[in-house]
Amino acid sequence: MPEQQFTVIQAIEHQATACARVGSALYASLLTGLAADYLSGGVTAELLEGVSDQPLHDAIPLRYLATAHRLALTGDAPELVPHYPSCGGQWAGADITDAFLSVVAHHRREFLQGMLQNVQTNEVGRAVALTAGFSMVAARHGLPLRTLEIGGSAGLLSRWPSYGYDTGESTAGDPESPVQFDASWYTGALPALHGAIAVVERASSDIAPIDASTPAGQLSMLSFLWPDQLERRARLQAAFRVAELDPVRVDQADAGEWLAARLGCGLPDGVATVVFHSIVWQYLPRSTKDAVRAALAEAGRTATPASPLCWLRMEPANAEHADLRLTSWPVSGCADGHEELLAHVGYHGADLRWLS
Ligand SMILES: C[S@@+](CC[C@H](N)C(=O)[O-])C[C@H]1O[C@@H](n2cnc3c(N)ncnc32)[C@H](O)[C@@H]1O
Repeated sequence: MPEQQFTVIQAIEHQATACARVGSALYASLLTGLAADYLSGGVTAELLEGVSDQPLHDAIPLRYLATAHRLALTGDAPELVPHYPSCGGQWAGADITDAFLSVVAHHRREFLQGMLQNVQTNEVGRAVALTAGFSMVAARHGLPLRTLEIGGSAGLLSRWPSYGYDTGESTAGDPESPVQFDASWYTGALPALHGAIAVVERASSDIAPIDASTPAGQLSMLSFLWPDQLERRARLQAAFRVAELDPVRVDQADAGEWLAARLGCGLPDGVATVVFHSIVWQYLPRSTKDAVRAALAEAGRTATPASPLCWLRMEPANAEHADLRLTSWPVSGCADGHEELLAHVGYHGADLRWLS
């Protein structure tokens, strides 16, 4: 088997395993059926082959699934609607590969286009980890926050103050918000949350922002969710309602250039500036990562106790969990800042385990 074909099938199989692990039995089953279609030289091979030389990294199997989900959500794939809980259907474990392939046969043009569209979710659950970090920064410095997000997608995580959090021992955010995170999101040692955290500015950016206020933007984001994960879907829809009431502009920009421009204006006094991101680092080209690090290091050198700089990020650690890390400036005698591992957390924000 040529190496590239092997890589596509590996990506399909890897994705099937990942879906089974993070709670989409439907997609795990469907991907297993689509892997068989691929191996027999079916339409799955035709559509997925050659789209990217990094099929796993570029989530090529998920582009395929999302195209069909988008059609199901708009009612244009009636074969799938009865099986997709997101469309009001029910899935009881049957193999629906034939139904899926029938949709592909009827919508070839949409699939050709869909295979070129990057998978882009904006997982609101990650606000649980980020807010624990923001709480710690606010308490430590005793200052209001200015948050700068890179890779923000639709900016839903920049709305973190507009969601509610309750560890069972402490709370943060808006207790009336339609997006609530209760004690079931936390496990083991708990972070200390600090009620209403003052935020003076929130800015977000992404190379390809999604407008969560438009039907097209919302449909795109819903299509990338897995059809049997109704809780995630309900949370995303609730976040759309929050987004309407709490607008945050997402600038279209490369993370490195945007951050250099923002931090280049200097760190304001009386405010803790927090640069943050979640599940973004792996997607940035090396030049962008270098530019982000350089912008942070340069601004870090000018940070003072009255104008501290923090870099908060939730990024992959291993197959099971991501790490929440914080680097802070100023640190006397250390230009690189002081780095701490704050927490382990599931990729979609569940099971936050505070370590700091
Ligand atoms: C997996 S998504 C994560 C989105 C969001 N941070 C979250 O946790 O839900 C990765 C995001 O990084 C963005 N991205 C990729 N390359 C970028 C770049 N060079 N500059 C800025 N954003 C980039 C993508 O457009 C995408 O929105």
